[in-house]
Amino acid sequence: MTPTRIAVIGGSGIYEIDGLEDAKWVQVATPWGKPSDQILTGTLDGVEMAFLPRHGRGHVHTPTSVPYRANIDALKRIGCTDVISVSACGSFREEMAPGDFVIIDQFIDRTVNRDKTFFGPGCVAHVSVAHPTCPRLSDACETAARDAGINVHRGGTYLAMEGPQFSTLAESRMYRESWCADVIGMTNMPEAKLAREAELCYASVAMITDYDSWHPDHGEVDVTQIIATLTGNADKGRNLVARLPALLGAERAPCPHFCDRALEYAIMTSPE
Ligand code: ADE
Repeated sequence: MTPTRIAVIGGSGIYEIDGLEDAKWVQVATPWGKPSDQILTGTLDGVEMAFLPRHGRGHVHTPTSVPYRANIDALKRIGCTDVISVSACGSFREEMAPGDFVIIDQFIDRTVNRDKTFFGPGCVAHVSVAHPTCPRLSDACETAARDAGINVHRGGTYLAMEGPQFSTLAESRMYRESWCADVIGMTNMPEAKLAREAELCYASVAMITDYDSWHPDHGEVDVTQIIATLTGNADKGRNLVARLPALLGAERAPCPHFCDRALEYAIMTSPE
């Protein structure tokens, strides 16, 4: 058994964790540059926690400028074992309504302007991301959401777009009807891929703010609409996070899904 340290990467609307003991903001240096912000560390129910605001306090990073590699590396360096992404998204499904949460299990990565790997010339690695989220961590997120009274959907495909503009109507229809995506957002990729390369368990809690632009009874998405739903979602998101330490515990066994050994058969470069 090894100590658990739960990291929460908070998206739009979530800029801190409630009730942290010994809370302090720490600056972590990485070879990939500065993370989005300092990291808020502390304990909750006896479990080590770390919180990183993905866009920085004051929301200064665009989805493209978020330093994804520095963020994941910084969390790894301070001993995080489990990473929970909490982020806003649009919905492609009538039954996945604004205010609902989705525990994501698949991604379609349409981002094009981001550094997506820690590896490169000199050390080549190909990790599997066939199952990009950790079922054990996702179970805990689902239980926490249900216990918090949140309307939660288990499983969903998240289309990660580059942004910062929202999708055109044609794109929205294509993602929904042909590509069978369930939700859309701008930030979970390459974060999930990098977490796997860093051998961290990763789960994604997507908080629905809108129906993107495909829905005939809802106008096109805009920031005003997102912010209006975000405030309620953020309270629910913080409630969910507060329940995670009790569910995950202060010590952990090796991940039954091998997230923490992802590099075991992934490195191609010879060690000599
Ligand atoms: N984040 C929240 N709603 C979104 C949408 N409709 N498209 C992309 N990102 C989003």
